[in-house]
Formats: sequence, structure tokens, C-alpha cells
Amino acid sequence: MNKFYSKFSTSLHGDIIVPGDKSISQRSLILASIAIGMSKIKGISNSEDVNNLIKNLKLLGIKIIKKKNILNISGVGIGGLSAPYKELYMGNSGTATRLMLGVLCNQNFEVKVTGDKSLNKRNMYELIKPLKEMGAEIHSKRNSLPIIFKGFNETMPIIYNQDLPSAQIKSAILLASLNSPGITTIVENIFTRDHTEILLKELGAEIKIKETSKKKIIKIRGQKELIAKNISIAGDPSAAAIVGAAALITKNSQIKIKNVNLNKTRITFFKILKKMNANIKISNKKNISGEKTADITFKSSNLKGINLNKKTVNEMIDEIPIFSILAVFAKGKSSFSGGETLKNKESNRINSLYQGLKSCKIKIIKKKDGLIINGVKKEENIKNATIKTFYDHRIAMVFMIMGLACKKKIKVDNLDCIKTSFPNFLTLMRSIRAKI
Ligand code: S3P
Repeated sequence: MNKFYSKFSTSLHGDIIVPGDKSISQRSLILASIAIGMSKIKGISNSEDVNNLIKNLKLLGIKIIKKKNILNISGVGIGGLSAPYKELYMGNSGTATRLMLGVLCNQNFEVKVTGDKSLNKRNMYELIKPLKEMGAEIHSKRNSLPIIFKGFNETMPIIYNQDLPSAQIKSAILLASLNSPGITTIVENIFTRDHTEILLKELGAEIKIKETSKKKIIKIRGQKELIAKNISIAGDPSAAAIVGAAALITKNSQIKIKNVNLNKTRITFFKILKKMNANIKISNKKNISGEKTADITFKSSNLKGINLNKKTVNEMIDEIPIFSILAVFAKGKSSFSGGETLKNKESNRINSLYQGLKSCKIKIIKKKDGLIINGVKKEENIKNATIKTFYDHRIAMVFMIMGLACKKKIKVDNLDCIKTSFPNFLTLMRSIRAKI
């Protein structure tokens, strides 16, 4: 197996863009496919997860044509997909799987859905439960992929109280509700990313959202066709978080990441960075396709440790891996708790981070739903290590970033997994002078 490593780097510099937001790319593709008419999508992520989704939508009868950097998608209406001639292979993507199962609820045919080794291990029980209630027939061993799935023309509206915070489950229920005769209600106690709600509104769905400081109540009326619309996608804030972190922990660095999505459900990490004393600046704020965007400048910083509670952790769930790396270079102790859902990501991230940091001899304590990480007083205290990535793209990327601030060698056992979200990660990092 190839092993990769990054070398001690300083003076990272440049104005760059990161790939289009993966969550919005997947939602745009799916919603454009079930809208009426032709949508043009600009800025779509070129990741393997998104490319697999395109293949699957084509198998389901959707015409998708790429012209320069724009995807033209001819939507067929909510229940208009055709039975595929073979199984749907979702690769590594939990998001594409869960959202597509929601869409398949409204299609009157049977289909087999499967994924790669890592995706096939992920538990789908919390999704299977409400979708069965809405009328889908679902057969699986151990509540994970492969799944044999049969939808119907019409789903039952439900009231869903979301105990486990998950944007994917919320989105799947919203998509399944699109052909329900009546109103489906979802109650969120911890707010998760709301790109599905924003796009549904943009395409003309009858969706109403009431928000208090403690609860969000989403009501959607089904059986209203969506109308195609052109969509523009800004950079992925979770990718920007990883690249930006490299500037924070290396000396004499300054990078600007342009046109990043800064939806309010995605900015908690950047707020936490400010509390950690990070030198970051937001400029050039805009609105694109119902979403907020801006440029972010990251400069070398003297970080200080911070403790994160359950609400904060769930609001920056994809940024916990890079937060854990920053905690190593921050003064004092950092911690997070309430991160149960981290165990069901592309890997068990509490475990992957614990094992990786432990092997670099960082002082770290594992709790059932979090970690306590002691910042290193001197970078020399970090030891040579080979990190097990568990085929998790974020684990691979964040340890490559850690290596940029260490004179010791931090190797990762697999970089191939990066292509699932950020195929040009190495080229981009090298363009800002990172030695990888
Ligand atoms: C995502 C939701 C989150 C996140 C994932 C993308 C989405 O997962 O971790 O990377 O696009 O809806 P959960 O819904 O499981 O929290």
C-alpha cells in the first residue's frame, strides 16, 4: 500500500477556490432531476460521491449533459424516474444514499441499492424507520446496505420528531413527502444544515419553517410539482475549513479562499475559530441561489484551546476532525462531547481521531461521545507516525494538514479516499506551497 506524508512547511500563500459544496451539489442534482423542465447547475463538485450520483440518476432515466462547466439536467417530475436495469451503486456517499432513498419512496418500482465496503457498514436504521412509516418496502440485513427498496406512487405524510440530529435523514423525509397527500412535519431540536429546505423553496415547494431558539418546525405539503431553476454553487465550507487550517498552524502564512458557502448552519466552525484566537477575516459577502457566500482569509495564529458542547459539535459535525488537529497546536486543553453521530460517518471518527493522535504521542483521552486533547507545548513533542485513515477522506486530509506543522513525519496509509470529496486537494495544497 502507498504511504503519503506532508513535510514541515511555512509561508503558505495564495488566493484559491475550493470545490463546490458537496451537500448542495447532491441536493441540486436530485431536485433538478425531479423538477419539471431544464435546470442548469454551475459550480458542481467534481468529487467521486457526486459523480457516482450523476451515474445513478442517469440509470434512473435522467438526461444530464455537461457543457463546459455547466450541467444541464432535464427533470422528469416527482414520480417520473424509470426503473434502472441494474443496482444503484452509491460508492462511499451516505448523503447520496439517504437522499436517494427518500426520492425512491415516490417511485413505483423495486431497486437494489448498494455501496462500497465502508458505506455498507453504516447503520441506516434511523432512516429506514420513518421511510417505512411513509410506506416504503425496505429489505436489508442488519439495517445497512445493500438494501432492496420498493416505493409507491404516493407516500403517507408523517410527523417526525428528530432526536438524532441529521440533515440527511431530514432531507430524505422531505424528499419522500413530495408526493404525500397532506402535510409532513419535521421537528428539529438541534439545527442541522438546511440546504434542502432552501432549494425546495427556490424550486417552488410549499414549505414553511418556524424557528425559535430551541426548535425548528418544518411543514411541507406534498403533491406540488417543483419547477426547474438555474442553480449556482459556491465553495464547500468544510473543504475550506481544512485548507484554511493549514495557514493557521504554519508560520508566515496567509491564504484567501474565495466564494465559500457561508449558510448560517455551516459557520459554527468559523465562529469557534475566532474564539480560539484564530486570525480569520470574512469579506465580500454575497447571496447566491438562496445561500450566503463570502471570501475567507486565514493567517498564521496563536490558537488557544476550547471546550465544545453537544449543540456546537453537531453544528460543526464535519469540522470535528480538523478541529481536533487544531487542538493539538492550541495552548492548553480542548475537548468536545455529545458527538455520538460521529461514530456513524465515513469511519467511526471518534475512534479514528483518537487512534491517529495517540500514535503521534499526543496526550488524549477518549470518552464515549468525544475527546479531550492536550495541546503540545512544543512541536517537537509530536512523534513520527503512520495514520490509519479507515478509508475516511476527512481523516486522511486533516492528518496531511497536521504534518505541515511538524518536523516529524506524519504518514497516512491511504490518500485515495480523498477523491470522494476533494480530488484536487494535493494540487491545490501544493499551489499554496504546502510540501506534500
Ligand atoms: C450531510 C449531513 C451530515 C454530514 C455529511 C453531509 C448532508 O450528515 O456529516 O457529511 O449533506 O446532509 P448527517 O446527516 O448524518 O449528520
